[in-house]
Amino acid sequence: MSLQDKIAFVTGGSRGIGRAIVLSLAQEGATVVAVARNEDKLNEVVKEAEGFSGKVVPKIVDIGESKQLSSAIEETVEKFGRLDILVNNAGITRDGLLIGMEDDQFDEVININLRSAFIAMKAAAKVMIRQRFGRIINITSISGVMGNPGQCNYSAAKAGMIGLTKSGAKELAKRGVTVNAIAPGFITTDMTENLPDKLKDTINSVIPMQRFGKPEEIASVVKFFASEASSYVTGQVLIVDGGLHM
Ligand code: NAI
Repeated sequence: MSLQDKIAFVTGGSRGIGRAIVLSLAQEGATVVAVARNEDKLNEVVKEAEGFSGKVVPKIVDIGESKQLSSAIEETVEKFGRLDILVNNAGITRDGLLIGMEDDQFDEVININLRSAFIAMKAAAKVMIRQRFGRIINITSISGVMGNPGQCNYSAAKAGMIGLTKSGAKELAKRGVTVNAIAPGFITTDMTENLPDKLKDTINSVIPMQRFGKPEEIASVVKFFASEASSYVTGQVLIVDGGLHM
């Protein structure tokens, strides 16, 4: 699955699933622009990739600020001459039950998780259409497929990403651009770290594989969608959850 000479842009690349994605693309030879807000953490990822055939280029961006995000993509294209792979990975949770959820709590999650994916896709698609090549990969969630109590905001954003993926795929297919989504189940990262142990045990008991996934187990699927191996696959949502949702 060589990604030699490919230029990638990955949001939320400083930790968790995004960090694993950045490192796995760089390992395959891609130049990866890794976006996050924490410079120190990003620099650690740059260091980790030293010696790989590709490299990691850190970029500080708040993806909640549309202009910052679209400019970061434009600067990437100016600097490297093209953009082959976009991974919309960054995301947040602001959980709460529907009747107690503040309007701002809903808007913030839609803005960071869904609107940013639209902004990045729009900026990336312009160059990918010109190139007649592109791979867009959206990290959604099984919450967007199944729903989840306490996550009306998050599930709505993640379900929205699925619509964005399918419509984008239909618009861009004839231009050589594929758009796919990955819906992770429970993955061990900062996002799930604070779940009470008792809840983790309950979750594990309903996952056929009886365990949380590792960030690398999402990154390997991203690599597939980014590579030539998936050249005839578009508009798909691949659930990666140890069998939780079938
Ligand atoms: P995480 O909380 O460990 O990392 C999130 C990343 O997003 C960080 O790098 C953070 O800096 C970045 N980020 C957040 N807001 C940002 C902003 N305004 N501007 C720039 N960067 C920002 O989360 P994790 O677990 O690695 O999640 C990655 C993606 O996978 C998210 O979209 C999440 O919704 C999704 N996901 C995670 C699951 C899990 O169990 N961990 C399950 C299903 C989906």
